[in-house]
Amino acid sequence: MTMLRPAYSTPAQITTAMKAQAALTGGAKVYAAHCAYCHDSGFAPSITGRDMPAAAIAGIVRLGPGGMQAFPESQVSDADITALATYLNGLPAAVKSTPGGES
Ligand code: HEC
Repeated sequence: MTMLRPAYSTPAQITTAMKAQAALTGGAKVYAAHCAYCHDSGFAPSITGRDMPAAAIAGIVRLGPGGMQAFPESQVSDADITALATYLNGLPAAVKSTPGGES
């Protein structure tokens, strides 16, 4: 049987694309399960599209500043946080209401 494979995709490129896709999917799940009920509800500042490094997010997630709860590794793993960073930074920033409609 013949395997057809697009000439432009090397196995390494496919692996990279699959990893990126997995991180996006995983990040969305972690966000929905642990973060969205505060950060998507107006209770906490929006954290989408802000180009936050995974290390910065990790520091906040482990410490739980202000009104935020802290999450131990058993609840949100380091891999989850890396996936979260990929997911969050790929989303558009929250729309700010700008009087006059200029953005
Ligand atoms: C119980 C509600 C709650 C949950 C759940 C929560 N957060 Fe937060 N988060 C907050 C609040 C409130 C702040 C603002 C803290 C402060 O500075 O006083 C915050 C701040 C942050 C900040 C800093 C935002 C900034 O503007 O500097 C990041 C990043 C963050 N949270 C990420 C997360 C992630 C990732 C998760 C999920 C793993 C999460 N949070 C879950 C309430 C929550």
